[in-house]
Amino acid sequence: MTDYGTEVLWVLILASLGLSAIAVVLSLSRRRHNQTPAIAYPGEDVASEAARKVLREFEKNGQSVDAALVTWSPDTLRKILADDLPDAQVIVVSNREPYIHNIKGNGVELLVPASGLVSALEPITRACSGTWIAYGGGTADRLMVDENDRVQVPPGNPSYTLRRVWLTEEEHQGYYLGFANEGLWPLCHIAFTRPVFRASDWEAYEAVNRKFADTVVAEARNERPIVLVQDYHFALLPRMIRERLPEAIIITFWHIPWPNSEVYSICPWRERILEGLLGSSIIGFHTQFHANNFTESVDRFLESRIERADAAISYGGQTTLVHAYPISIEWPAELLAKLPNVDECRARLRDRFGLSPDVKLCVGVERLDYTKGILDRFQALEELFTKRPEWIGKLAFLQIAAPSRGTLPAYKQLHDECHRYAKKINQRFGSEGYKPIIMVAEHHSQEQVYEIYRAADICMVTSLHDGMNLVAKEFVSARDDEQGVLLLSTFAGASRELLEALIVNPYDAAMMSEALQQALTMTPEEQRERMRPMREMVRNNNVYRWAGSMLLDAARLRKRGDLDRVTGTSERSPSNANNVISMFERMRKAAS
Ligand code: F6P
Repeated sequence: MTDYGTEVLWVLILASLGLSAIAVVLSLSRRRHNQTPAIAYPGEDVASEAARKVLREFEKNGQSVDAALVTWSPDTLRKILADDLPDAQVIVVSNREPYIHNIKGNGVELLVPASGLVSALEPITRACSGTWIAYGGGTADRLMVDENDRVQVPPGNPSYTLRRVWLTEEEHQGYYLGFANEGLWPLCHIAFTRPVFRASDWEAYEAVNRKFADTVVAEARNERPIVLVQDYHFALLPRMIRERLPEAIIITFWHIPWPNSEVYSICPWRERILEGLLGSSIIGFHTQFHANNFTESVDRFLESRIERADAAISYGGQTTLVHAYPISIEWPAELLAKLPNVDECRARLRDRFGLSPDVKLCVGVERLDYTKGILDRFQALEELFTKRPEWIGKLAFLQIAAPSRGTLPAYKQLHDECHRYAKKINQRFGSEGYKPIIMVAEHHSQEQVYEIYRAADICMVTSLHDGMNLVAKEFVSARDDEQGVLLLSTFAGASRELLEALIVNPYDAAMMSEALQQALTMTPEEQRERMRPMREMVRNNNVYRWAGSMLLDAARLRKRGDLDRVTGTSERSPSNANNVISMFERMRKAAS
């Protein structure tokens, strides 16, 4: 070979070695960044600058970095389960069931309840083929289950098991209406309704939590299920499950706000509730603010060790992560495909309520609940009609109010006041064939609700206090025409994410009426400019990301627990093996 030939050969060998080295480094760095091979990598999914932005935002919120790098869908959840939590059975526990069977005439009617919790958890449970345990409150529920109290759902296209739990009248009264909804609900919401605490309600609450713990144990196929405990109905359940299934991963999500520790101190069973919740591996809230309030309550009432940098609380030899995971909705909403275009929806709704095409339509959709600010909304409308009479005859407000907890005095009173106030406004500003306020206190299906969102010019979400409020996100998701204006309360968790909404203080009627004026006169271009980023926000932060972030954190806990067991680094009893040890504790152990 000539000298020249030898030189060329060396150059080729070195170049190929260099390329292999780069490939190895790249593959190692990929592994380091993401231990979940099935999940897409940053470069494949998002532009690098956008990815860095999301990452920064996620790190700021103390959430898992992996979650920011993924395009979230039912498939992503299935992959996380298959790759990171193999053989893990997902069990969801909530009070409200996703499908209610009621007797109607000679037949059975199926009802999907008006509940943000249900609309968020349903697609998740479908994606995970899990088991959902809930109170069977429908009049035909017992007729529809098998000998094990199970029914396969969704009807017609079953993908998961609904296990119904039966409660006596007294249990339901004490646990649900009493302790949960007359005690904890007003305690956690700043709506100035006095909480009522009765010892008999507390006893029922404890007994029902125990009944659900028995059911979780009965439904668990092995010792290590992932149990997703939902909401304030089950504060005692996490510890009860932990005692019976020590190796379970228990993720508890508190769907409503958590009060500051001074307000929380009102509750006579405050320590018991905190102890119960700290049986969880992870406790999630919608906002960091509520997570902080929880941590402050623990700090004040329990002998515990709080590692603020790790967002971890150690209590009774076990550690619980306390994080913010903002809940969201399915994207794209499956039922959108079933609905006609926006013009058709507008025409249908105007036809249903006898509205002429030039009348602007403003809507409110929620359960009839005193936290939702319905009366405050009416007050703002009254103010608008008084100050700007040009809108009389040109604006109608449709209030959809699903009946809720109707036997409780506070709810009965609200129902009457809403009807009285709507009547007063209609008498003052209405005329033949024109009602400024149309109040429909009836249940509507999700499909009907989405049709209303699509038909509206303005949607008012003016809660006095709300953990998140998914109506705001649903309205945004329904508007694929990028039109419509959202008025959103600053006291709803959603206002932390939907920044382009018109953010209002529901206690300030004058301000809300001005916001209404702004919405009514907003150009289509501005509506689009505001709606587009909000849609992007909900699309990127859909409900699969909410659940996926928790599952990724759960996978990490499980891996860490398994590692501790193998290396013998855990001093804790096996019952705590799957709860995370704080970083501080780990560093101390490593150093000693
Ligand atoms: O999100 C709060 C919440 O209380 C959920 O727990 C519940 O499903 C929903 O509102 C509706 O309330 P209820 O189940 O009492 O009708």
